[in-house]
Amino acid sequence: MSINTKYDTVNYTEKFIRLAQNENPYGTSPKAISAIQENLNLVSIYPDVKQHELRQLLADKSNVDVSNIVVGAGSVSIIETMIKTFVSKDEHIVIPKISFTAYKVLAEIYGVDFRIAEMNNYRTDLSIIGKLCDEKTKLVFLANPNNPTGTTFTHNELKHFLDQLNPTTLAVIDEAYFEYVNDPSFPDSLSLLNKYPNVIILRSFSKIYGLAGLRIGYGIAHQNIVNKIENQRTPFTINILATVAAMASLNDIDFITYSIENNEKQRNYLYSNLKNLGFNVLPSQANFLYLYFYTKLERDVIYDQLIDAGLQTRKMEPFGDEKALRISIGDENANLKIIACLSH
Ligand SMILES: Cc1ncc(COP(=O)(O)O)c(C=O)c1O
Repeated sequence: MSINTKYDTVNYTEKFIRLAQNENPYGTSPKAISAIQENLNLVSIYPDVKQHELRQLLADKSNVDVSNIVVGAGSVSIIETMIKTFVSKDEHIVIPKISFTAYKVLAEIYGVDFRIAEMNNYRTDLSIIGKLCDEKTKLVFLANPNNPTGTTFTHNELKHFLDQLNPTTLAVIDEAYFEYVNDPSFPDSLSLLNKYPNVIILRSFSKIYGLAGLRIGYGIAHQNIVNKIENQRTPFTINILATVAAMASLNDIDFITYSIENNEKQRNYLYSNLKNLGFNVLPSQANFLYLYFYTKLERDVIYDQLIDAGLQTRKMEPFGDEKALRISIGDENANLKIIACLSH
């Protein structure tokens, strides 16, 4: 494990620096780690099936009622419940062409039809998505910032989209990376919940909170939607240590601020240096950068060059683009290595 300035930088494998999963390179909130250690003896008992304490904390933080919060074993498990139970045989979901893989993978697993919306210059274009939606569309998945492109849509674009959307279609605003955003035009999605009861906002403890291995995420929505998900999800899937860690890390403003500030600094550094080296790189609002190439071969050469230098990035085939690479923003050491590696 290498040491960063304040929080330890996590490097689990001797061989590679992990820049493939958009994890927090500064690890986990020390408050969460202490809470896990202090509560190890709880593992002999079942977790609270309703997750009342955590839901109340999340409700207070988001300024909503506890009945508006649903917790899942990772936000992906909430996505799974919705895909599995909200869409009937002759209905479908709509997803952007280059986006988080789970939407399509889960639709395929559960035999749910999906429509793919083309991107607009690698951005999710809500007007293209809107044209694909009709009365048979049950769910629309909108990652914002989008994984893997790091692009965002604005508050006004979202409002305009929701104004046109059929009220029987549920818009899933997946904000797994929202803490990293600094663009002032980014949606204040919470403020839209009252006006648009067909919206669910998803958030995760896997990214900035550094709890990916414990599997915990949540959704904020109208009570009717929360109840529908609650009624369909498998009970007891959220483990007790995930809950105590999530509750402790919510209060760790110091760790979150540190993670945001360092991500921003390293994102700027990596983006501008990659640009200077002549790469096609998209401006990102998240904790990763998207590099696109003219050919797959060109992409493969860069991927291999990074792998040979011990830097593990992600090829974008599963996300719908065989000519692109996603690099998660690591710490300063990782970035210096990337730039040194790609400079010759
Ligand atoms: C857009 C998006 N949503 C959700 C998730 C999954 O989050 P969780 O670990 O909470 O299931 C990811 C993980 O990469 C993601 O990129």
